[in-house]
Amino acid sequence: MNSTLSPKARLPVTLRQMTDSLHDLESALQLSRGAGWTYRLEDWRIALLLGEGVLAEESGQVIGSALCWPYGDALATCGSIIVAPAMQGRGLGRALLAQLLQLTGERAILLNSTAEGMRLYQAFGFKPVGTVHQHMGRGRVAAGQHETDHQVRRAGPEDLQVVTAMDQRAVGATRHRMIAALFKSGSLAVIERNGNVQGYAICRPFGSGQVIGPVVATGAEDAKTLITHFLTANEGQNLRIDIDGDSGLGSWLIAQDLPEVGQVTTMIRGERPPVSGPERIFALASQSFG
Ligand SMILES: CC(C)(COP(=O)(O)OP(=O)(O)OC[C@H]1O[C@@H](n2cnc3c(N)ncnc32)[C@H](O)[C@@H]1OP(=O)(O)O)[C@@H](O)C(=O)NCCC(=O)NCCS
Repeated sequence: MNSTLSPKARLPVTLRQMTDSLHDLESALQLSRGAGWTYRLEDWRIALLLGEGVLAEESGQVIGSALCWPYGDALATCGSIIVAPAMQGRGLGRALLAQLLQLTGERAILLNSTAEGMRLYQAFGFKPVGTVHQHMGRGRVAAGQHETDHQVRRAGPEDLQVVTAMDQRAVGATRHRMIAALFKSGSLAVIERNGNVQGYAICRPFGSGQVIGPVVATGAEDAKTLITHFLTANEGQNLRIDIDGDSGLGSWLIAQDLPEVGQVTTMIRGERPPVSGPERIFALASQSFG
């Protein structure tokens, strides 16, 4: 991929594939910092490991990024779409997104849009389908909320198969590579009844602290129990959780000292593959990964 772009841009801009070279990762880090995002170099490394990326370059300087994460043949997510502030409004966002759509092919695409991104995505046929609420703080388990220990346990590699199958029922596509990578960089807990796994959650370092997500369960009470497990394990640390707007967890998280600090709009282009359930996503792996 190597194209010259947009008559609107002042200088020739090229689009090329993002690599895992230190140069590309550090350039992407500068972009995300410029947008006020707290990604670490390691967050970019994992994002690229699990997906594919496009960078926009002008005179050897990276001025834009866009990534996508295919989950099988029917679904992908897109994110990390950033244009350096001085280059915005010149068609670069459009050019980056057009390249991503070539990479994702016929798949339905989900993304979580900031207020700034909405017009761009609408122009490419994305439709709003929900909201995601970002909660963040130094979580503290409210009185009476401590987990029922016998239900939740730390999980190991032997649990990955059942967890991946559960995730697939909630998402409608397989995210086995993502789950394996997040498990490697963090910790996995499952909720179990009568020897059957009913839900799972992963907690891992991300940005300026730890992120709890994905959280996948059959009901909100199980989701709370899983979250409480990680709140207890990480008490006093900077914690982030991005919940589905329909999860019903918002006021409960606020009561655990995790106030809502932001909101994005979930948008889709194409037909989302059906989910079989009974599990559903309560918290996202990240706004990028879904
Ligand atoms: C969103 C973003 C990538 C758009 O990049 P861009 O290069 O400025 O976009 P383009 O010039 O290709 O413009 C695309 C459309 O978005 C609109 N747009 C661009 N910046 C905008 C802004 N700040 N607010 C509202 N609309 C905006 C343009 O007017 C254009 O719409 P139009 O074709 O109807 O006129 C860029 O603003 C950005 O990096 N923002 C910060 C990071 C971010 O929020 N990314 C989105 C994550 S989901």
